[in-house]
Amino acid sequence: MKTQVAIIGGGPSGLLLSQLLHVRGITSVVLERRTQAYVLSRIRAGVLEQGLVDLMREAGVADRMEREGYPHTGTILAVDGESFRIDFTQATDKPVMVYGQTEVTRDLYAAREAAGGRIEYEVEDVVIDAHGPSVSYTVGGEPRRVECDFIAGCDGFHGVSRKTIPEDVRQEFEKVYPFGWLGILSETPPVNHELIYATSEAGFALCSMRNETLSRYYIQCDMSERVEDWSDDAFWAELKRRLPKEHGDALVTGPSIEKSIAPLRSFVCEPMQWGKLFLCGDAAHIVPPTGAKGLNTAASDVHYLYNALRRFYEDGDSAGIDGYSETALARVWKAERFSWWFTSLMHRFPDQSRFDAKMQRAELDFLRTSPEAQAALAINYVGLPY
Ligand code: APR
Ligand code: PHB
Repeated sequence: MKTQVAIIGGGPSGLLLSQLLHVRGITSVVLERRTQAYVLSRIRAGVLEQGLVDLMREAGVADRMEREGYPHTGTILAVDGESFRIDFTQATDKPVMVYGQTEVTRDLYAAREAAGGRIEYEVEDVVIDAHGPSVSYTVGGEPRRVECDFIAGCDGFHGVSRKTIPEDVRQEFEKVYPFGWLGILSETPPVNHELIYATSEAGFALCSMRNETLSRYYIQCDMSERVEDWSDDAFWAELKRRLPKEHGDALVTGPSIEKSIAPLRSFVCEPMQWGKLFLCGDAAHIVPPTGAKGLNTAASDVHYLYNALRRFYEDGDSAGIDGYSETALARVWKAERFSWWFTSLMHRFPDQSRFDAKMQRAELDFLRTSPEAQAALAINYVGLPY
């Protein structure tokens, strides 16, 4: 098979890139290890920056998001039972869009299918030749090969793309946090029309939503805890304990339809390109979920790579391609910094000294009272410019 861009991974990064390239008449093939149903069964965050909203529009996949998504112009922070609001519009002219990542992925699959886009599912044994360039793989034991001009490694944290960059070239930077997030999805109305990020002696909690009848809640937990040991009742009780009284009292509880524990990690791989291979999204970096930067940072990589490829094919200009890693990483590190900062501010660390706890409270009080500190949070939360 021949194509212009071979894309490894059919998650949001790979699909968005494929669809954007298609709009510009650039061909691609997406190689996905799982089935489409499996990819769509993964539950992920649901807050989209304006940059991603604009990319969805450019890709021609924004209709349902515009109809069913919720623009939010602020978020609530709750500290030891007292809450205050961060207004995004004071410091930026942008809202965020609350729309689930699963829905973004669903819309992208529909658009690729409607356009006759080539997606191979259940591919195995992917081997990348970053200099050929080509990608070989098997489907049902049968060997196949794609020849291409470029390869986009959009295969997530556990994919093969990053590992194709030789160890003496690749540098990895990592921080693992000493806690996880226990999350549930429930068919109940959200406790508030805006998200609530809460911190207290008992630890972090987040109230999020998918729509008027579907809520997503998280509480910080120990990584040694097991989902089986958390009944729905125990979850609701612990969540309520971590929220201000007015929100705790308003909480509508019900059976969970999903419950899972996720670890928190910060990770960056440098460089993000090797030969004709370019990494995008979770393949190159991971953020802890506080602030919802995972999907949004993947989208910024896609923005840079898509525009670099466009410039190459439309104008014969390879400057964007050559500078991709440097350009993408500059923004990646800022999203890493924000996610690390917001995580550090809002969680209880098991080894925290009394002094550390006082520093956290002082910073939270500064944030509560300083318009400048709130502006710094807002501009990062809605997304730094590309
Ligand atoms: N070959 C082919 N496909 C692979 C391989 C492989 N060897 N390894 C992994 N994949 C596929 C996975 O099955 C998955 O569908 O690559 C896809 C990667 O998707 P994601 O992990 O969702 O990563 P990405 O598309 O970069 O999305 C960005 O934002 O909110 C965050 O972590 C969240 O998924 C989210 C991410
Ligand atoms: C979510 O809705 O799942 C979500 C929202 C905001 C975050 C993290 C997760 O910061």
